Amino acid sequence: MSTLSARGKGFANAGKIREQYEEIWANVYDVNTNPSGTINLGTAENYVMLNAVTAYINDHINFKGTDVNYGEGPWGSLRLRKAFAKHMDKYFKPHRPVASDDILASTGCTSICEMLGFSLFEPGEGLLLSRPIYQAFQEDFGLLKCIFVPSKGIDQFSMDAIKCYQEAIKESEAKGIKVRAILLCNPHNPLGRCYEPDALVEYMKLCQKYEIHLIVDEIYALSVYKIPGNSNSGPLPFKSILSFDTAQYIDKEYLHVLYGFSKDLASGGLRLGCIWTQNSSLVDSLSAQAFFNQPSNLCETIGISILENDDWLDKFVATSQKRLAECSMVARSLLDEYGIGYNRGASAGFFLRIDLRQFMMKDVDSITWDHERAFQLLLKKHKVYVTDGEGLSSEVPGFFRLCYVKHEAEVRLGLERLHEALSEAGTTGMAEELDEVRMT
Ligand SMILES: Cc1ncc(COP(=O)(O)O)c(C=O)c1O
Repeated sequence: MSTLSARGKGFANAGKIREQYEEIWANVYDVNTNPSGTINLGTAENYVMLNAVTAYINDHINFKGTDVNYGEGPWGSLRLRKAFAKHMDKYFKPHRPVASDDILASTGCTSICEMLGFSLFEPGEGLLLSRPIYQAFQEDFGLLKCIFVPSKGIDQFSMDAIKCYQEAIKESEAKGIKVRAILLCNPHNPLGRCYEPDALVEYMKLCQKYEIHLIVDEIYALSVYKIPGNSNSGPLPFKSILSFDTAQYIDKEYLHVLYGFSKDLASGGLRLGCIWTQNSSLVDSLSAQAFFNQPSNLCETIGISILENDDWLDKFVATSQKRLAECSMVARSLLDEYGIGYNRGASAGFFLRIDLRQFMMKDVDSITWDHERAFQLLLKKHKVYVTDGEGLSSEVPGFFRLCYVKHEAEVRLGLERLHEALSEAGTTGMAEELDEVRMT
C-alpha cells in the first residue's frame, strides 16, 4: 500500500525520473576521464560560455558575512530586482521603463511556472501551449491541464496561427475545460524562432477577448544569432512583448513575462529567474509562495554583480551570440554531411529540430511513438542523448531536438554515435527495442 497522497503518487508514477536522467547527467562523457560516458546533446545549456561566467565569479566576487544570512526576502532583494529591471530596460527596449516593484525573483523560471500554476489555475483548468514545446512546462505547471495546440501546417510564429488558439479555446470549453492562459515561448524552444510582432499583438488581443492570462517566456531573449549568408528576409529578430504599448491590447492583470539566468547568462546552476507582472494580487500571491523558492543569498550576490557590470555584460552577450552562431554553423554542416534534415530558419536558442524519420523507417508515414521510444533506447546503447519529440509534444513522431552548444569535437562524436544508432535502426528495424518498449 502506498504511503503517498494521490498527488505524490502522481509524481512517483510519472516515470522513473532519476533512472531516466542519471545516465545522462551523472555518467557524463569526457574525452580524458570518461570517454565511454554519455554525450548529452539533449540538455539546453550554453556550455561554451560556462567558463566565462565562473572566471567572472572567481575574479569579482568576495563574499561577506551577510551573503550567507536569509537576505532581504524570498521575492529577491531590491538591489537584485533593480538589476533585473535595468537589464530589461537595456536589452528588451520596453515601451515603459521596467519597475523593480513589478519584478519578483525566484529560483529559476521553473519555480515561477509552478507558482503560477498554483496562483492562476484551479486544478484541471487549461493552459494552451504550442507544439512542439519545451518539455518541462507540463511538469512545471503541476496540477493543471496542458493543451498542446496543433498548428496544422500553418507557420506558428505568424498571425495566421492565432485561429488555432481560438479554436483550441472553444474546443476545450466545449469539453468542459476552462482555459486560463496561453504560454508563449519567445524565442521558441525547441524551434529557435521568434514570433512576428503582429502575432504578439494578436495574442494579447485574444487573451483580452477571452479574459485569460498571457505568459511570455523570454528566457532566450539574448541567445539569438545570425548565420552568415542568410538573406535579410531571413529569420525575424527577437522583439520583447514589453516593447509594445501593451495597455492598448490587454489589461495589465493578464500579462506576465518570465526571464532568468539559465540561458542568456549561461548559469542554470545559479537557479535565478524572475517574473515581471503588474498584477498586484498575483505579486502578493507569488510573494507568499516565494518562501518555498527563495533564491540563495550567495547566488543573488553573484547575479547582482553580473547584471550591474555593464561593460562585462555587453562583451559577454556579444561573445555568446558569436559563439552560438559558430556552434550552429558547425552543427548545420555536420547535419548536412549526414544528410539529416533540420529547421534552417532557426536563429535563437541552443538547438535545432532534426528530422530522423527517413533513417528510422523507409515508410516515414508508418512511424509511431513506439518507434521513437525504441530509437531512444538505441541511442542510450550508443551513449548519446537527444531530446525526443514525444517529450516535446511534437505533432508527429520522428523529430528530435539536438542541443549543440558544446565544443566541436564532442558534437562531432555525438553525431557519429547518433549516426551509428540510425544505421543499426535501419538494419535491425529496432525489433528488440520495440519489444522492450511494448513490454513496459
Ligand atoms: C523555455 C524555457 N523556459 C524555462 C526553462 C527553465 O528555466 P530555469 O532554469 O530558469 O528554471 C527552460 C530550460 O531549459 C526553457 O528552455
